[in-house]
Amino acid sequence: MSTSGSTPLGQKAGRILSGIQPTGNLHLGNYLGAIRNWVTLQQDYECLFCIVDMHAITVWQDPAELIRTTREVAAGMIAAGVSPVDNALFVQSHVPAHAQLAWVLNCVARIGWLNRMTQFKDKAGKNRENASVGLYVYPNLMAADILVYKATHVPVGEDQKQHLELARDIAQKFNIDFGKVVFPLPEPVIRGPGMRVMSLRDGLKKMSKSDESDYSRLNMTDDRDAIALKFQKAKSDPLPLPTTDAEMEGRPEAINLINIYAALTDKSHAEVLADISGLQFSAFKAKLTEVAVNVLGPINAETKRLMNDPAEIDRVLARGAEKANTIAAGVLKEVYDVVGFLPRA
Ligand code: AMP
Ligand code: TRP
Repeated sequence: MSTSGSTPLGQKAGRILSGIQPTGNLHLGNYLGAIRNWVTLQQDYECLFCIVDMHAITVWQDPAELIRTTREVAAGMIAAGVSPVDNALFVQSHVPAHAQLAWVLNCVARIGWLNRMTQFKDKAGKNRENASVGLYVYPNLMAADILVYKATHVPVGEDQKQHLELARDIAQKFNIDFGKVVFPLPEPVIRGPGMRVMSLRDGLKKMSKSDESDYSRLNMTDDRDAIALKFQKAKSDPLPLPTTDAEMEGRPEAINLINIYAALTDKSHAEVLADISGLQFSAFKAKLTEVAVNVLGPINAETKRLMNDPAEIDRVLARGAEKANTIAAGVLKEVYDVVGFLPRA
C-alpha cells in the first residue's frame, strides 16, 4: 500500500504552502502584501514557507548574490514574525521532491495551458525565443511546490491567481488520469483590498524590487533617514489631502499613501481620513514616516542581527528542510507508485 506521508492536521484549519522568491531585497509590498499575512495565518494553519530559489533562476541570477538574498529573505521573514519553530521555513532546492514532482507534472500539464499564462508573456516580453525553458514551465514547478505537500490553502497575491488555477487543473487532471484522488484541490487565500502596495513614484505601478528607482520602494532594510527621504520624495498631487472616499477618486498616489498608512496602523480608510483631515501632504508624510519607522524599525534591526550570524540562519533553514522533506518524500512516493514507477528494491 502506498503511504501519503502527510502528518495529521490536528486542530488546524488546513495546510498552507506559500513561496517567495529570493531575488533582491524585501520591500514594503512583500511585507504588507505577503509576509504579514503569513504571520497571521500561522496561528490557524499548519504552514510551510518556501524560499523558491529554483524559480529565481528561471531568469539570470548572480550566484553569490542569490546566496545572500536567500539568507536575507529568511532573516526578514523571521524578523517579521514568521516562526521557524511552529512552521517549516525552508529553501526549495533543499527538498529534492519539488523538482522530482515537477517532472511528473510537466507530463500532466498541457502546452496549451502554459501558453495562456500571462506572467510568462510579461516576463519573456518580445524576445520569447530567448526565454529559458524554465521560465516557461515555472507554473508547473509552482504546482509541484503546492501539491508535494497536499496543501489545502495557498495565500497568493492577485498576480499569482492564474498560476494557482493552473495548479488546480493539474491536480485534477492527475487525479482523473490515474483514477485516484491523490491531490486535494488547493484553495487560494487572496488578500483583501488595500494590500496592493504601489510604487512611491507612480501610483499606478506595483511597488517592485525590479523597479530601477530605489525611491519607488521602501526596502525592509531602510533606516529612518531613508524612509523619511523616500516619503518626502514620494509623488503626491497638488490638491489638499482627501477627506472622503469620493475625494480620493482619480488620485492614485494619495490613495496609495493612505492605504499604506491604513495598513501600517491597522485602521480603516474612514479612521485614517479622520486622522489626517486638515493636514498638508508634507505633514501627512511626516506622520507616515513615524508609523513606518515604528513598524519597520524593529524588523530592520532584527534582520540585521540575524544576518550577522549566517551559520545560524543556515541551521534554521536545515531544520525547516528536514520537516518539509518528511512530508514531501511521502507524497512523492505515493505519486511514483500511482504513476507506475518500479519501486526501488
Ligand atoms: P515577489 O516579490 O514578486 O516575489 O512577491 C513575493 C510576495 O509579495 C508575493 O506574495 C507577492 O504577491 C507579494 N508582493 C510583491 N509586491 C507586492 C506589492 N507591491 N504589493 C502587495 N504585495 C506584493
Ligand atoms: N510564483 C510566486 C511569486 O512570484 C512564488 C511561488 C513559487 C509561490 N511557488 C509558490 C507562491 C507556491 C505560492 C505557492 O510570488
